[in-house]
Amino acid sequence: MTKTAIELKNVTKKFKDHEVLKGINGVVEEGQVLSIIGPSGSGKSTLLRAMNQLSGPTSGEVIFEGQDLTKASKSDMAHLGEKIGMVFQSFNLFPNHTVLENVTLGPRRVKKLSTEQANQEAMEYLKQVGMADKANAYPNSLSGGQKQRVAIARALAMKPKVLFFDEPTSALDPENVGEVLKVIQKLADEQLTMVIVTHEMNFAKKVSDKIWFMADGQIVEENDPESLFNAPKEEKTKHFIEQVLMD
Ligand SMILES: Nc1ncnc2c1ncn2[C@@H]1O[C@H](COP(=O)(O)OP(=O)(O)OP(=O)(O)O)[C@@H](O)[C@H]1O
Ligand SMILES: [Mg+2]
Repeated sequence: MTKTAIELKNVTKKFKDHEVLKGINGVVEEGQVLSIIGPSGSGKSTLLRAMNQLSGPTSGEVIFEGQDLTKASKSDMAHLGEKIGMVFQSFNLFPNHTVLENVTLGPRRVKKLSTEQANQEAMEYLKQVGMADKANAYPNSLSGGQKQRVAIARALAMKPKVLFFDEPTSALDPENVGEVLKVIQKLADEQLTMVIVTHEMNFAKKVSDKIWFMADGQIVEENDPESLFNAPKEEKTKHFIEQVLMD
């Protein structure tokens, strides 16, 4: 039996008169990896931000743990927000804190863990992403791939139910992409529920249970990776896939 992790009901987002999300409906199951692909400007980042309430929708519902996040009170949201992690393209590490401190800050402040407990757990997550030996380093001494692995450890330290990624590898030098994708693949193997916006088509094909192809603020096509890439149904999907395969 599958269980719903997040459900979107007719989600729209407007910036002034510009309707960027035009009624998104969809479900992410627990333990599932959903990748969102589509052309630049199609609304992928806006959709992620609407889902995790960084910038909530104009209308519609985002159901998480049985609650509509768009109507959750501030205190409910603080509690629910802890369970939704986010990894950004640009890492967003705190530059004047060490790697270890970056990972422990959230658990200490939000979850009220003791420093000792937080450090112990953080070291486990840093091991998991292969960054334990850099615990005392500062972010600016790390490569992009290393920074992103620390950012993933930091998100994991909050023990999220769902982890969102917005183009986690697009700011990286090509030689650093693989190490980050490997960490995300491992999390997928461990059945962490993830929603990944990515331009890495081969990775999306490999890691995902389901793909949404977005264009012009809508989900044009939803399918499993094999079907979506090898037998796209919609003209827009065909066109997009032909284009990215040519690159
Ligand atoms: N804060 C904002 N204010 C006004 N318009 C915005 C804002 N954020 C996004 N938009 C507009 O919404 C549309 C979708 O943007 P979004 O960033 O979601 O696209 P995207 O699919 O993530 O693109 P990319 O692949 O380039 O990251 C664009 O036309 C963008 O200009
Ligand atoms: Mg984007």
